[in-house]
Amino acid sequence: MQNRYSISTSPHTSMVKLNIPTESFDSYLQARIKSIEYVIATLLINELLNPGNLKGKAVDIATGSGPGAWVLKQYGADVTGVDTDRKVLDEATKYGVLKKEKAVHQDGIEYLKGLEKNTINLVTAFRVMHDFPALELYEESTRVLKPKGQIIVTGTFDARDLILQLKPYGFFVDYVPNAETSVFISKEKK
Ligand SMILES: C[S@@+](CC[C@H](N)C(=O)[O-])C[C@H]1O[C@@H](n2cnc3c(N)ncnc32)[C@H](O)[C@@H]1O
Repeated sequence: MQNRYSISTSPHTSMVKLNIPTESFDSYLQARIKSIEYVIATLLINELLNPGNLKGKAVDIATGSGPGAWVLKQYGADVTGVDTDRKVLDEATKYGVLKKEKAVHQDGIEYLKGLEKNTINLVTAFRVMHDFPALELYEESTRVLKPKGQIIVTGTFDARDLILQLKPYGFFVDYVPNAETSVFISKEKK
């Protein structure tokens, strides 16, 4: 008889990176990195995120001081971080999370509009605020994604309704333990 507590194993578990180095960062950045580590781990283990997308070109919209960019870099992604707030981008470059040329001071949707189609493997936007234009982000990201590319959007409970709008286009996780409350990942682009 099958043990009722046995669970199937995921082929992607061995790829998961936890306890990513953060020693030199401030406590806020460290906490955000930890949270995003769990998000990526959850998406990988549940086979919702194609691991190949972590190895290519990524754009982290609303990057802030760059916690998402830092996690994606540890997986091997070539990440550009975009934010409308110059101060948080300066933090990202100060800590070496992003190189200056990879820290873009611009509206995220406008940045995506300026990219060529089929050029990006992964677009992320971690902890967006409740008024973030999520549907526009989805539309512009879909245009720039390569085939099999994906989009990840996360937020706190305040942004849940906003992120739920994306559910028809992929998968919605209501709570990642020790991490974000609302997580969306798109299906792979056809
Ligand atoms: C709560 S912070 C999240 C920062 C980081 N992604 C994280 O997970 O901790 C939200 C960030 O979104 C940025 N932001 C808001 N609207 C934006 C937009 N349209 N384009 C780019 N950045 C935006 C803000 O400046 C802020 O840095």
